[in-house]
Amino acid sequence: MAKQATENGPAEVSPKNKLNDLTAKEWIPETVSVWRQRGLGAKSPDSRIERLHPAPFSFTDVSRLIRFFTKRDQVVLDPFVGVGSTLKAACLEGRRGIGIELNEEFVELSKERLATEIDQSLFDVPSQQMLSGDAREVLTTLATDSVDFVVTSPPYWNILHKSDHKVEQERISKGLATEYSSDSRDLGNIAEYDLFLKELVGIFSECRRILRPMQHLAAVVGDFRNKGRYHMFHSDLACALEDEGYVLKGIKILYQPHKRVFPYGYPFAYVPNLHHQYILILRNEETAT
Ligand SMILES: C[S@@+](CC[C@H](N)C(=O)[O-])C[C@H]1O[C@@H](n2cnc3c(N)ncnc32)[C@H](O)[C@@H]1O
Repeated sequence: MAKQATENGPAEVSPKNKLNDLTAKEWIPETVSVWRQRGLGAKSPDSRIERLHPAPFSFTDVSRLIRFFTKRDQVVLDPFVGVGSTLKAACLEGRRGIGIELNEEFVELSKERLATEIDQSLFDVPSQQMLSGDAREVLTTLATDSVDFVVTSPPYWNILHKSDHKVEQERISKGLATEYSSDSRDLGNIAEYDLFLKELVGIFSECRRILRPMQHLAAVVGDFRNKGRYHMFHSDLACALEDEGYVLKGIKILYQPHKRVFPYGYPFAYVPNLHHQYILILRNEETAT
């Protein structure tokens, strides 16, 4: 369909635009540093599989990132793909997705999601690749400079195990999963924060070898509280990735207005209800060694 010119800019995609297929009108609003999370709503039939995972991200938010950081037919990698939100988004956006997931149950749910939530006659589902196993091993099998965009949400340390997590108690009452797995290779099961961060950074470093030069990584992460301390996980990760040859280009706040407000701390202390995540946007500006 032909795009129409408006006061915000020309209707056509600039021939100088090597990043995406967006016109000026589509590009400029996406640079705003705060996004409101766009969920499906619990009643949507398409949320059935998503809800079986303890920490999915919304495929519509991933679609926005994919549209901004890639062109049609390019390759998108998610090394922690969970129940396949990135593959679903890549498929709907006409990109080729590669997803890696450790938990076999989530691998099967991802495949089921692609088979049941996408119209097979309209979209190229077979071009989506689901790889099962530890990202640390599977990534070594992918070719250097073979991916155009990495987008993912990793485990936030072992925070799902914390017993004071009200959301966890709510999931238990509904019979839903509260952790990714009991597998010792699961990054969500590492007890030491520093070791967890080191392993995670190692995975993103390997992703940089696979990511073409000057292409982007978007990591959706949240801060968290543990034993009365606030951890700036987003900041720790961004700083560590800058030491690995990525350059931080910006941080988006992903506001989650649908989350419940709990009376944490009342009436004794300030304990925040964390209703936002961060999207770290980094670019591979160094040649991988
Ligand atoms: C925050 S979740 C990702 C959810 C995903 N964005 C979605 O929408 O379903 C992190 C995922 O990383 C997986 N994971 C943990 N350690 C892993 C590892 N070593 N290799 C691959 N996947 C791993 C977990 O099983 C979990 O599904």
